[in-house]
Amino acid sequence: MEYHNIYIEEENNVAIITIDRPKKLNALNKATIEELHEAFKELDEDPNTKVIILTGSGEKAFVAGADISEFAHFTVENGGKLAAKGQKMLFDFVESLSTPVIAAVNGFALGGGLELAMACHFRVASDNAKMGLPEVSLGVIPGYGGTQRLPQLVGKGRALEMIMTAGMIDAQKAMGYGLVNYAVPQEELMPLCQKLASKIMNNSSVAIAQAIKAINAGYSYNNDGYAVEIDAFGACFGTNDFKEGTTAFLEKRKADFPGS
Ligand code: COA
Repeated sequence: MEYHNIYIEEENNVAIITIDRPKKLNALNKATIEELHEAFKELDEDPNTKVIILTGSGEKAFVAGADISEFAHFTVENGGKLAAKGQKMLFDFVESLSTPVIAAVNGFALGGGLELAMACHFRVASDNAKMGLPEVSLGVIPGYGGTQRLPQLVGKGRALEMIMTAGMIDAQKAMGYGLVNYAVPQEELMPLCQKLASKIMNNSSVAIAQAIKAINAGYSYNNDGYAVEIDAFGACFGTNDFKEGTTAFLEKRKADFPGS
């Protein structure tokens, strides 16, 4: 697929996806959502991609939300379909990827932008970042998983306050809330994400995929997280990575995981 709203850079098994609509503060229009789906799918299927970092172009915004101009005229039916399609195509899709995804939040992450960052496996913010779910100020509610993932990350009371006030919090406050794992100066954002990616890549990608699956199961109402963990734990014993990891430990050497 040819990309017009995003671009991908790959180096040393780390792929960086940059949402590239800086004049619109990287707002998520339909085309961008479709391109992101394809890019994540393509990278997740590529065994050479061990970690994906998602960021926004420019220094001002990660993503300033869903593109308001696209849904301003929508009916009840259109609205429901927009949320259902978007959740399936991008937000749930990213959360369920086997490949770890880090959000590098480099500025405004509002509405669908914060929802996208929350669908990533964890978040790192630059100290100019501003985060919020301002949908009720537009007369709607978060529709890309925000009412579910925000309480999971920050707790129900803080999530309700953020959603009801439609306010923004800064990177330091977001760190205190557990919404982001780090808050660093903008120039340190990508180097820190790369460093975290390197640490992740020392480990078994097969085991990491099972860990993502088990953790996500605990947050889904259709699954028993403990039961999924038992199955995922068992499955690890059949992998080459498990043989290599345990053998390397016993031979007192660093593991060189085959990724299978
Ligand atoms: N959808 C569509 N366009 C958006 C957008 C969004 N979510 N967020 C920003 N833009 C556009 C603006 O319309 C503007 O376009 P224009 O230059 O053609 O007029 C451009 O991006 C720059 O934004 P601007 O508002 O001029 O920048 P600012 O620095 O004054 O304000 C924000 C930045 C983020 C505070 C402001 O853009 C904003 O409130 N955006 C909407 C946030 C939101 O409600 N998101 C949730 C959507 S569900």
